[in-house]
Amino acid sequence: MADTKKKLRSQSWFGAPGLHGFIHRSWMKNQGYPQDMFEGKPVIGICNTWSELTPCNGHFRELAEWVKRGVYEAGGFPLEFPVMSLGETLLRPTSMLFRNLASMDVEESIRANPLDGVVLLMGCDKTTPSLLMGAASVDIPTIGLSGGPMLKGNYKGQPLGSGTGLWQMSEDVRAGKMTSEEFVGAENAMSRSKGHCMTMGTASTMASMVEALGIGLPGNAAIPAVDARRYTLAQLTGRRIVQMVHEDMKMSQILTRKAFENAIRTNAAIGGSTNAVVHLLALAKRIGVELDLQDWDALGSQVSCLVNLQPSGKHLMEDFYYAGGLPVVLKELAERKLLHTDALTVNGKSIGENVASAECWNRDVIHTYDQPFKAEAGIAVLKGNLAPNGAVIKPSAGSPHLFKHRGRAVVFENIEHFYARIDDPNLDVDENCVLVLKNCGPKGYPGMPEVGNMPLPPKVLKKGITDMVRISDARMSGTAYGTVVLHASPEAAAGGPLALVQDGDMIALDVEARTLHLDVDEAILTKRREAWKPQPSPARGYVKLYVDHVLQADQGADLDFLVGKSGAEVARDSH
Ligand code: FES
Repeated sequence: MADTKKKLRSQSWFGAPGLHGFIHRSWMKNQGYPQDMFEGKPVIGICNTWSELTPCNGHFRELAEWVKRGVYEAGGFPLEFPVMSLGETLLRPTSMLFRNLASMDVEESIRANPLDGVVLLMGCDKTTPSLLMGAASVDIPTIGLSGGPMLKGNYKGQPLGSGTGLWQMSEDVRAGKMTSEEFVGAENAMSRSKGHCMTMGTASTMASMVEALGIGLPGNAAIPAVDARRYTLAQLTGRRIVQMVHEDMKMSQILTRKAFENAIRTNAAIGGSTNAVVHLLALAKRIGVELDLQDWDALGSQVSCLVNLQPSGKHLMEDFYYAGGLPVVLKELAERKLLHTDALTVNGKSIGENVASAECWNRDVIHTYDQPFKAEAGIAVLKGNLAPNGAVIKPSAGSPHLFKHRGRAVVFENIEHFYARIDDPNLDVDENCVLVLKNCGPKGYPGMPEVGNMPLPPKVLKKGITDMVRISDARMSGTAYGTVVLHASPEAAAGGPLALVQDGDMIALDVEARTLHLDVDEAILTKRREAWKPQPSPARGYVKLYVDHVLQADQGADLDFLVGKSGAEVARDSH
């Protein structure tokens, strides 16, 4: 093992002579740490998003203990620290408003403390990108460890997936096909173990991105939270991060352009969430990799979906793990030359080496590339006068008969306007209309909430119709589905063309041609543009900082001054 003592950044705290060294060590000793812990062991921060308000990460204190076990075994000194935790189900107005705030907490906590390496404990949707983004801006040796998905929900003898099952049942209640007593029964049956959503929603997608990027150990994506092997993975992560410090293997050596290309193609192959687009664009900008929205279409849209998981398919993450998990998918991509097999991963091996021996145990869950679950299923990027900087759609979750569609716009000025009107029996709407929702982009709501998959009007649902074209500047839950155009950029609140759409305008969507067009004369649009007024800026606080500085969705919706990294250097303390 290399002697890393002289280059450990923690030694500038703990190895300092005189007054400073005394202060740095003595107060730490009140926790019972002996002197030798401060004498050149790699100090590993365990960045913990545990919170009882983030139920998906509720088991993270236990998970951290297993990471510590590994760190101690490898001769390191583990120190766990909390950062802002973002729970998807409780935070208002939307957890996405706080992703960048949490990333600032992570970045400054890592840089300001005597850490040589860090393990990121991530689970619920925004906890993964916020930790990766914050750590990337420091760029010390880092491993991501996801908390793992919940076990499968089960209601009336049928599997019940997080989110996906709920959206369907909610429509059934509104259509009068399900009683409210049954709805409560399903509520009790869906979330039945520790862990995050067990559909291929945003949390599972981002856990898969961690593995595909190579910033987590193999197996990270799918091992259920309560499976003993999740704890084994945590222990191995603890062992490995100490070695990474000895090797000085930084995050930027893993998060290369090749790694991002692997992740984009993997997202298509798993039928992953559209949210990954925004998060990976932001992460790439932090670490300094050139990546743009068009890359998602160019690299991923032709890639087939191999994984038959909700919301695109029928199985759940537990089934995915038992079938062989993400390594099987990566191996299929590698065999089709759709994976940069030489991309380095945190275990020191290439991603190709990691997946070479992967085996599939259930081809109904993970299809072969020759017989994919859905062909050409990646994210499609649409452009046109309604979204000059782009909008996205996830064809694998949509209805092919709507992919080329021209319809009359039914417009909602904001989400309150939507909820006030959608159940109105007098709303002038039918299944051929296009539902348009404005002012739900990064600046608009603010925070870009997951409301893009607008529920359908009851009068349409009662006809047995289950999908309509919907367009907005919002995001969509990774567990949701439908022919839903999202992330329209620039957003309405930034004066984008979406702001100009009015009831009765005709809109043409053509997914194959990648176009999204508002059929209104330019002269009329110019008049509407002149009459448009921006909404007032928030008066104070973080929300003001956010609205004043947030970038558009096609840029990753990061704050403009957070793009890039500052490294691990920090001024000496002043005492
Ligand atoms: Fe936390 Fe879905 S609500 S992962």
